[in-house]
Amino acid sequence: METALLQAETTVGNYFISNYPPYSTWTPEEIPRIEDALELPPAQGSLCLYVHIPFCQERCAYCYFRVHARPAAGDVDRYVDSLLEELSLYADRKAVRGRRLNAVYLGGGTPSYLSQAQVERLLEGLQERLSWDGVVECTFECEPSSVTAGKLKALRRLGVTRVSLGFQTLSPGALERSGRRTRSEHCLRAFRLARDAGFEEINVDLLAGLPGETEASWLETIRSTIALAPDCVSVYQLELTYNSVLRARELEGELQDLPSWPAKRRWAGKAFAELEDAGYAVASGYMAVRDPRTWRFVYTVEGFWHGADLLALGESAFGHFRGVHYQNADTLEDYTELVAGGRLPFRRAHRLTGEERFRREVILQLKTGALDEAYFRSKFGVDLREAFPSELETLRRRQLLETCVDTIRLTREGLLSVDALLPMFYLPRHQGIRYT
Ligand SMILES: C[S@@+](CC[C@H](N)C(=O)[O-])C[C@H]1O[C@@H](n2cnc3c(N)ncnc32)[C@H](O)[C@@H]1O
Ligand code: SF4
Repeated sequence: METALLQAETTVGNYFISNYPPYSTWTPEEIPRIEDALELPPAQGSLCLYVHIPFCQERCAYCYFRVHARPAAGDVDRYVDSLLEELSLYADRKAVRGRRLNAVYLGGGTPSYLSQAQVERLLEGLQERLSWDGVVECTFECEPSSVTAGKLKALRRLGVTRVSLGFQTLSPGALERSGRRTRSEHCLRAFRLARDAGFEEINVDLLAGLPGETEASWLETIRSTIALAPDCVSVYQLELTYNSVLRARELEGELQDLPSWPAKRRWAGKAFAELEDAGYAVASGYMAVRDPRTWRFVYTVEGFWHGADLLALGESAFGHFRGVHYQNADTLEDYTELVAGGRLPFRRAHRLTGEERFRREVILQLKTGALDEAYFRSKFGVDLREAFPSELETLRRRQLLETCVDTIRLTREGLLSVDALLPMFYLPRHQGIRYT
């Protein structure tokens, strides 16, 4: 924790923590655990669905996702077939049969890379296979240059409530240096089209620390974004990962003038401060929302961060079902072959112990900036202050934690570096090991 927190330069490695225990502890040997979980009697509770679309027009230089750039149209069609076939396999399992979905998330890669006909076939096919009667939220991620009015109207008609537009920045220089196809005009146009289509929520993703970004151009991006009045703004801090084009360039001797971690924290902090001045409320380490009284994020905050069941479809997608983590095959060939053979395409899995389930929720909910002590007492029978006395004391000493009566709350500085703090809450056997 100390090194990550104090680390001044942006060196290669993982920063963002999306799950616990680390993915490197999930193994093929535990695949039978997820197979067993799918044969349990059906349970009550929230059920979410993630659908992964691993295609993009270009591979952006900073991106850490495993994506396929410019696939042939036939490959995308075949992939949509596999997704639908995969959901049919789930719908047949005892623990899933008859359950209703609550929230759906189509992410990537770039879901908006699909053509309108592919989007329609996918959403209609998903809805034929599992009940959407209880779906209160359906998110669809879009890369702005691939957005059309026709696609957005189809999404709206087929039950998408929330679109997430990946702006990253509106600075022409930074967009270009990031190898991104998107231009600022695409972002503004996509936003207008999404508003016209009447979605309940529009989220805009911004990314602090891209090559070529300056503090002045970043502030301009924030102000232009606020002028659009999105319902939610997500602000991430750039990670330089092993699999990114930026890292490959660095290895070839090309100097990357990436801002340091303290600079990125400062930029993200400025973004939040500007958003607050404009009436937004900070809802997590990455999100500011325009109307905190009505805002909900059923899939991520209420579902995933609170241990809900999550079925995941697609190449390398990861899910969580009845206390078991799993991840799908991570090549397109393996994934489609397994599904074509009538098998759920698992690559690795991990059944969580009771202690791991508890810590997972602590780690994920700390991303909201606060832990509700009564929730943990009632769900896990654990008093957080007794479970983590030295961790909380360390955070308090560093002024990363506020002193509150019923809630454990991070200060703004703590929230802005939350992913660097989370490993403190890992079990000792998970400290210092590879994350992915
Ligand atoms: C799947 S992408 C969003 C949709 C679409 N592909 C796009 O780029 O517009 C999800 C988000 O992850 C974030 N992201 C990608 N690479 C990142 C990196 N190296 N560090 C931090 N965040 C990153 C970006 O903010 C991006 O919008
Ligand atoms: S940032 Fe988005 S568009 Fe760019 S490669 Fe990653 S997933 Fe694709």
